Amino acid sequence: MKVVKWTGIIIGSLLLLLVVIISVLFFISKQHENQIYNIDITPINIDYNDESILEKGRHVATIRACVECHGANLGGRTFIEDPVVGLLMATNLTSGPGGIGNEYSDEDYIRAIRHGVRKDGKSVIFMPSHEYNVIDSDDLAALMAYIRSKDPVDSTHLPETKIGFPFRLMYVLSDIHLFPARLINHSIGIPEPVAERTPRELGAYVATTCIGCHGDNYGGGKIPGVPPHWPDASNITLGGVLADYSETDFFNAMRNGITIDGREMEQEFMPWQVFGYMTDEELSGLFEYLQSLPVRATGTR
Ligand code: HEC
Ligand code: HEC
Repeated sequence: MKVVKWTGIIIGSLLLLLVVIISVLFFISKQHENQIYNIDITPINIDYNDESILEKGRHVATIRACVECHGANLGGRTFIEDPVVGLLMATNLTSGPGGIGNEYSDEDYIRAIRHGVRKDGKSVIFMPSHEYNVIDSDDLAALMAYIRSKDPVDSTHLPETKIGFPFRLMYVLSDIHLFPARLINHSIGIPEPVAERTPRELGAYVATTCIGCHGDNYGGGKIPGVPPHWPDASNITLGGVLADYSETDFFNAMRNGITIDGREMEQEFMPWQVFGYMTDEELSGLFEYLQSLPVRATGTR
């Protein structure tokens, strides 16, 4: 009888401990979610009607992958739906019903894009704003003009974001970027445009869009926070596959989605269709920049 009693007490205590741990993790994730950021945005000059600026804005929205999550019409869409991760919706950026266009000033958009902070002061959920705070004022103004130029889209039929319960808990214990405002140094202002970038500087400028998947050091590996069926991101330093790539192979991967060993990459995992819009200068600068990076072992992100 004693043994049964003690087994009961041990199992009971373990269950209680588990409940306590889960509650603490849940509480921390809620605290991060509800943290309020007060950020002033210095207005920038935006020309909404110049065709060449709108074209530039379209280019920025494409190569920075905005269209990949928010949809080509910027009308918002579900970009991850998974039992663990939950349902992640990218906002409708237009002025149609369900969109933020009528409510948000340009500064409100810019706060979300480069600080990861919504109009309600909370962090955006899972949107990679930490990759975007390098975008200079010229590109930001063009992007903003392009967003404003889009036709209104009705998104009221779309469901709302629901962060999966297990995902919340995993977030606290890992480096998933669920609340990106936490990752950003908010004291850095909008960078001034650079008149003439060297190819490598241009490459470094556009390469921030790769870090969410390939890692801060471009060493590749398991991408934090994506569903388990996703492949690992490749090591795109000279410590990995990049060592075998010529510039032509690199262009073929980025424009046609074909790896050096002839494999076709899936757009859902490696969004080459948007990167394919990079200019020759951007792609060749990117290649040069990646080659100049410290060599990383594969999987070390
Ligand atoms: C990986 C997917 C992804 C990419 C890439 C992305 N976004 Fe988002 N974006 C989201 C998600 C998800 C939300 C909703 C965040 C939330 O619910 O808090 C969002 C929200 C926003 C918001 C509104 C935030 C608010 O106040 O509610 C703006 C503005 C925005 N994105 C602009 C952009 C622009 C511009 C780009 C490209 C430079 C971009 N996004 C790229 C996923 C993405
Ligand atoms: C949304 C995630 C994501 C983003 C963003 C992303 N990649 Fe990838 N990339 C991947 C994944 C996953 C793979 C592996 C695909 C596979 O094996 O099928 C990959 C593979 C590659 C490859 C092929 C390497 C090989 O294995 O032969 C190259 C080159 C590459 N990425 C470059 C880039 C560059 C440069 C950027 C930024 C401009 C970038 N990627 C942005 C996810 C991403």
